[in-house]
Amino acid sequence: MADTDNKEKSNLQPSRRSFLNTIWAALGILAALELIFMVFTYLGRKKPGAQKEQSERLIDAGIIDKYPVGSVTANIMGKFYLCRMEDGGFIALSSKCTHLGCTVPWDDKGKRFICPCHGSSFDISGAVISSPAPRPLDMYPVHIENNTIIVDTGKLLKRNEFLKTQLVYTKKVSK
Ligand code: FES
Repeated sequence: MADTDNKEKSNLQPSRRSFLNTIWAALGILAALELIFMVFTYLGRKKPGAQKEQSERLIDAGIIDKYPVGSVTANIMGKFYLCRMEDGGFIALSSKCTHLGCTVPWDDKGKRFICPCHGSSFDISGAVISSPAPRPLDMYPVHIENNTIIVDTGKLLKRNEFLKTQLVYTKKVSK
């Protein structure tokens, strides 16, 4: 009788082992699927504050009438200068010197930006008047919508010279 029992047990053991193996394999697959799901969920998730970043980089500088021709206005929030040329065109200039990055203040009396670090100077369009600055002040794209000026501080534009095409006008003003 005991012999018969042992035989039955030994007949059952391989099937129990294969059942356990199947369970373990299923659990392994489940864990792998869960891991894949988590990775895709993480990758598909928007960065926190992504929407905020875009709204922060678009600076509403107010209506155009705020800016007289020939004026330079510092925008502290956007760290740029909004300059309005004598012909009414706008340009937004980075406040960083193109030599080694010092902040350049506008000298209203001398009508130029003068870098306090090594003495470079720039005119109202950002063009270099005196070196060592190797190129004009960088600029940001300007858009005028419904008489309101929007500056995109997320796109810094480097340039080798000042061109009139870099100025932005309201539709009423002819170029
Ligand atoms: S950092 Fe402006 S001149 Fe050197």
